[in-house]
Amino acid sequence: MALTTSPRGTADIFGDNLNNWLKLEQIIRKICRTYGYQEIRTPIFEHTELFERGIGDTSDIVEKEMYTFTDRGDRSITLRPEGTAPVVRAFLEHRMDQGPLPVKLFYLGPMFRYERPQAGRYRQFHQFGLEVLGSDDPLLDVETILLPIELYKTCGLEGFVVELNSIGCPECRARYRDDLKEFIRPHLQDMCSSCQNRFERNPMRLLDCKREGCRKVLADAPVILDYLCDDCADHFAKVRAYLDALSVNYVLNPKLVRGFDYYTRTVFEVTYAGLGAQNAIGAGGRYDGLVEEVGGTHTPAVGFAVGVERLLLALESEGGFKAAAPRPDAFVVQFGGQTKMKAAQLVYELRQAGLQAELDYLDRSVRAQFKAANRINAKWVLILGEEELEAGKVKLRNMDEGTEELVDLSEIIQYMQSREE
Ligand code: HAM
Repeated sequence: MALTTSPRGTADIFGDNLNNWLKLEQIIRKICRTYGYQEIRTPIFEHTELFERGIGDTSDIVEKEMYTFTDRGDRSITLRPEGTAPVVRAFLEHRMDQGPLPVKLFYLGPMFRYERPQAGRYRQFHQFGLEVLGSDDPLLDVETILLPIELYKTCGLEGFVVELNSIGCPECRARYRDDLKEFIRPHLQDMCSSCQNRFERNPMRLLDCKREGCRKVLADAPVILDYLCDDCADHFAKVRAYLDALSVNYVLNPKLVRGFDYYTRTVFEVTYAGLGAQNAIGAGGRYDGLVEEVGGTHTPAVGFAVGVERLLLALESEGGFKAAAPRPDAFVVQFGGQTKMKAAQLVYELRQAGLQAELDYLDRSVRAQFKAANRINAKWVLILGEEELEAGKVKLRNMDEGTEELVDLSEIIQYMQSREE
């Protein structure tokens, strides 16, 4: 293990890449405000049971992807693999269920899954997610689809597709599961070992299998949409009517199932073909039973999460999303000795006035200081030589225009601020 390499599946975010993250986060916060979502920051780790109960113990995540450890107090702790269960826990812990409903929350932060890393799939990745708790209004299902679409569009992303399905309620699913198993049973020996293992416990997950042979078997399998009870069918019809009324394009995918047990009714996924195997840039759905599962009263809810790295990868592949690097206002060039002392004071005053100011910390020559100012693309260079210092002045060079003028040190900040406007 090299000490200079980060753990597999993790990444450092810095430099130009960080500027893109900051720009994206700014867009996210702005859109969330217009849709009335409040930010929530939950802990990075939770009690393991929250995810076991919430996500479901037949899911890939709980079966094999969680970062779980026992802490010194002998508690089983898990680094959060997703944000929905923690938000539901916080919703109940802080009695938000008693307050005005629905509660609309969003979050932005790292998630952890022990997956096989590849392009677009990491062990520490980031999600922007939103959750609406306390209403089963189909309009909210649509809002949680609309918001990420608005995000993708605002970022300039074009080639994404929204896939939609309803997986009904536990009653619809019970009838469907029986028929699905009957359909699959004669072909089970031809399917992969993972499908065979899941067949009894969670047959709907077989629809998610990417292997060609398994997909072939399932091509003509019954679909859940034909099994929806009246209430679920009506709910889904309303979701689709709102989507149509709001001119939202989507593809109906009756085989879309999600890898978590908590979903009910509407499920959706946004894919971006240019990303290859890891093509989901966001996904979500309704989870009307989760609040009860975690210990509250029946509280319908719906939500969505965007994979931040994948969205940035998709944007990169379209070449359009480039945040401008922040540009320092000033670089103060000095000649050592007393002039460095004065430069330190000046830089401090400039910063206090809200201007981004830099100087040299490596005892470089004046020539090298100018080079450094150029490299960081400073708007102004302030030259502070012995002569200027004695006269109480500073030479101000406008780096864009190439002009130079002598300004009183006592007026320099005011002068620069007036030129900024
Ligand atoms: P999810 O489908 O597991 O759903 O994750 C949402 C998004 O996170 C994915 O579409 C993908 O973009 C990104 N993602 C997932 N795993 C990785 C990974 N290993 N590396 C990089 N990106 C990844 C959820 O997490 C649900 N909590 C969404 C939700 C919110 N449902 C209701 N509310």
